[in-house]
Amino acid sequence: MGHKHSVGPRHKYDMVELPRDRVAIVTGASAGIGYETAKNLAIMGAKVILACRNEEKTRKAMSRMREEYEHYKSVFSDSAKHEELQLYYMHLDLASLQSTHTFVQQFLAMGWPLHILICNAGIAVNNISITEDHHETMFQTNYLSHFLIIEHLLPVLETSGPDVRIILVSSIGHYNAHFNRDDIENLTLKKDINLSLYGTTKLYQVMQMYKLAEKLKQKNITNIGVFALHPGYVQTEIARDLRPLLKVLNKIGSSLKIATDSVKGAYTTLYCAVSPDLKGQCGYYNNCRPERCSGKARNKALQDIVWDYTFKCLQDHLPKHSESVNNNNSSSSEQTTQLMATAALTAADVQPNQL
Ligand SMILES: NC(=O)c1ccc[n+]([C@@H]2O[C@H](COP(=O)([O-])OP(=O)(O)OC[C@H]3O[C@@H](n4cnc5c(N)ncnc54)[C@H](OP(=O)(O)O)[C@@H]3O)[C@@H](O)[C@H]2O)c1
Repeated sequence: MGHKHSVGPRHKYDMVELPRDRVAIVTGASAGIGYETAKNLAIMGAKVILACRNEEKTRKAMSRMREEYEHYKSVFSDSAKHEELQLYYMHLDLASLQSTHTFVQQFLAMGWPLHILICNAGIAVNNISITEDHHETMFQTNYLSHFLIIEHLLPVLETSGPDVRIILVSSIGHYNAHFNRDDIENLTLKKDINLSLYGTTKLYQVMQMYKLAEKLKQKNITNIGVFALHPGYVQTEIARDLRPLLKVLNKIGSSLKIATDSVKGAYTTLYCAVSPDLKGQCGYYNNCRPERCSGKARNKALQDIVWDYTFKCLQDHLPKHSESVNNNNSSSSEQTTQLMATAALTAADVQPNQL
């Protein structure tokens, strides 16, 4: 079945007033979409933890947010309710499981609640490399380490109040994902010529959203909403490590104003994070609206394969409460047929506007 992507002007979310003790974590908040997301959550009143790998860059970003808030206060004196933004830096390098663990342990040791967890950080590269943990770097950065964070923080999220959200910043690129059930990380491939391996990591995020929502439902946990989203084609630093041709196309996209800016690029994330209408919901969003994601992403048999593989990758790192076993009937013949069909699909070409 075909799908329609939301096109045209970017829809804006409605700002809300967040209690001063509402806690949000935004990964990759030092630049781009994460920067605008963190800043606006703080403007709305939340305590925001910027979970980033480069302290100097992030602290500069925090200073810039504070300066921008001073300007905001002078222009929007009615809606600027607070004297200062509550911003906190925490170190997190998603390309290292050790660093990810340390981040989780440090956060848990603080004893804070957690109301909004935004898994935003991501990379797009053409050259495949392997991390210190022997995983493909995009797979680990975009997907695996975020998975680990979520699993460790679930008990805190579960007990932090009636309206808690997990947001996975995925991409339209997930429609063009290369999926090989025998090589989930694409470790046998050397290059991501058309960004379809990047799309694979983004596909896994959408699958995780569905699987996690299903598991929460099975456990009757109703206070946590789970969302995956496409932020739009946004002019950010993400194209910096792409091969020259894609960089040039990206520049053209930017100069033709096809790409939007980071301010608008954060709208859908912020909508999923704060819209009162989305309490306890789950789904895939684009342009502040629900959208049909790819068939592969919705395929339960494929979701199970990826979920189980993820557990194998993280077996020495996951908390005891994590569940690898799938107790629904995921091996029905219908799903198996679907699995065979979708696993055989090959990647289509992806342009930078499909990052
Ligand atoms: N831009 C688009 O058109 C577009 C489209 C679809 C989806 N997305 C998604 O949107 C999200 C944000 O991307 P963006 O466009 O805002 O890109 P960006 O400007 O490059 O920002 C990416 C952020 O991720 C951080 N990051 C990268 N590797 C990390 C690591 N190992 N550990 C911790 N943080 C790390 C970066 O930190 P440093 O500052 O230290 O590099 C930066 O803060 C990504 O998940 C991306 O896939 C973007």
